[in-house]
Amino acid sequence: MTHRIAVIPGDGIGKEVMPEGLRALEAAAARFGIDLALEPFDFASCDYYLEHGQMLPDDWFETLKDHDAIFYGAVGWPEMVPDHISLWGSLLQFRRRFDQYVNLRPCKLLPGVKSPLAGREPGDIDFYVVRENTEGEYSSVGGRMFEGTEREVVIQETVMTRTGVDRVLKYAYELAASRPRKQLTSATKSNGIAITMPWWDERVKAVGERYPEVSVQAFHIDILAANFVMHPDWFDVVVASNLFGDILSDLGPACTGTIGVAPSANINPDGSFPSLFEPVHGSAPDIAGRGIANPIGQVWSAAMMLEHLGHPDAGRAIVDAFEAVLSEGDPAVLTPDVGGQGTTETLGRAIAARIAG
Ligand code: NAD
Ligand code: IPM
Ligand code: MN
Repeated sequence: MTHRIAVIPGDGIGKEVMPEGLRALEAAAARFGIDLALEPFDFASCDYYLEHGQMLPDDWFETLKDHDAIFYGAVGWPEMVPDHISLWGSLLQFRRRFDQYVNLRPCKLLPGVKSPLAGREPGDIDFYVVRENTEGEYSSVGGRMFEGTEREVVIQETVMTRTGVDRVLKYAYELAASRPRKQLTSATKSNGIAITMPWWDERVKAVGERYPEVSVQAFHIDILAANFVMHPDWFDVVVASNLFGDILSDLGPACTGTIGVAPSANINPDGSFPSLFEPVHGSAPDIAGRGIANPIGQVWSAAMMLEHLGHPDAGRAIVDAFEAVLSEGDPAVLTPDVGGQGTTETLGRAIAARIAG
């Protein structure tokens, strides 16, 4: 069986880490006899926007909907295109139209990588953020009135639906139930956001009735953020609304030393549309063009994609390979964010060589 994969590098370091993600993917495919058809696309990038006046071609949905997965780099080039235009015109369309309602973001302190938190070792930080990915605070309901006057009003509604919240909670409970600690943490803010968040808490309880084996705790998002820093070892699976999950999924990886290694899977669990795999980080204009971006976020996303496509051994081999390369700690190979003087390519090549065996 051939897996059809749409490959979209995007902008900035997306174009630099993608070749290394593909190098790892192809090495794993060769070793495990997996047949991949990789189809590159130049849309969903700011270069495409500057040429065409839109981020995506009119037929993008038809073009992508029958792929088995989408492998994305990063998008955004705020100097050229305002972020809300580039992101709402691309990545956020994919997530919503392909109903990728789970954004699964592992957060793990890797061997050989120094945590900025004193005394933390690999094993101390190893949890998942399960982020609601299609609704919540990321809504297009709202507007601007009386623009440019003293009476100017700006409104953007949070939209939560029972179907939308229950389904991501179900995913989070099932993930927690499958792990040894069986522990779920819910990010709330029911003290201040007094309509949607008390209701979120109710749904956490209601859905949880079906998972008596999972122990559940809730923290308000402010102290939860603090606890990521003070007690990252407390967490196993953390479930959060779209915005809270976005923030936690940069904070978590920052606690593990660098956001450059963090992967994500934007999953459509029922498989009616392709899921999308991309690093957590963005296009990093501050380092783009220098060849020093850490490719592990992209490489680990490739591992998650292979696992999703039914090849857990191949995914595991990729993770083992980058963990081995990080453990070796050769400064000539590693990128600067993990203490080396190497490049995106030296690190990517070392990982691919390991995968090949
Ligand atoms: P960013 O993630 O691009 O960068 C934040 C910081 O982390 C920068 O200092 C950057 O150099 C560093 N960094 C990021 N990835 C790294 C890597 N692989 N290796 C080493 N260092 C790395 O966030 P930002 O600066 O807020 O956003 C830049 C652009 O990217 C914006 O247009 C934003 O909207 C967009 N963005 C896109 C995505 C996405 O495509 N999923 C995610 C986040 C931000
Ligand atoms: C992410 C990004 C996106 C988000 C932005 C770029 C719209 O930060 O994937 O985490 O907020 O979801
Ligand atoms: Mn983010």
